[in-house]
Amino acid sequence: MDHSKPEGVTSLDPAMFNEAAKTLTYGVYVVTTRLGDSRNALTAVWLTQVTKSPTEVAVSCGNDLHSTAMIRESGVFAVNVLAAGQKTLAYHFGRSSGREVDKFEGIPWEAGMTGSPILRGTAAFLDCRVTNSVETATHTIFIGEAVDGKFFPDLTPAVYRNGKIF
Ligand SMILES: Cc1cc2nc3c(=O)[nH]c(=O)nc-3n(C[C@H](O)[C@H](O)[C@H](O)COP(=O)(O)O)c2cc1C
Repeated sequence: MDHSKPEGVTSLDPAMFNEAAKTLTYGVYVVTTRLGDSRNALTAVWLTQVTKSPTEVAVSCGNDLHSTAMIRESGVFAVNVLAAGQKTLAYHFGRSSGREVDKFEGIPWEAGMTGSPILRGTAAFLDCRVTNSVETATHTIFIGEAVDGKFFPDLTPAVYRNGKIF
């Protein structure tokens, strides 16, 4: 496919894009991974279902993140769908790097099918193997096939919009 700009198409002012993007609504996810004996996770909101069959999701992870390097190498990740009321976990995994701290210290988890950590008390999880990836200027989109998963119908998933978690 030709990705060059069609004639007459310009660029959107990034500030305007930023304002428009604030109206987008997301879930809140802790995306975990493991490489050998090490584990790490980032909080991500830029995540979506891609298809139903195959059972695929896509997540956009900053190129420089510790988790991104680990997912690239291990080829596995698990999506933990945070429930409303788990805001603290979102900030816990989203505000420090696994390069400096062990984010799993004091956090209950068990290994999923791929070895990626599955957290307790979430609304659902999807354990995935990477089937494809696309590297953009700043982020890598990992497409993963869910090989295992579970949901807990009594829990309401958290929602993220314009910098706030509900
Ligand atoms: C609410 C929230 C949402 C976030 N969403 C994303 C996201 O979608 N993609 C991303 O690359 N980083 C996202 N981040 C930032 C990462 O979680 C953060 O950079 C994290 O510290 C990376 O950890 P690591 O270096 O151990 O992988 C988010 C952070 C927060 C608090």
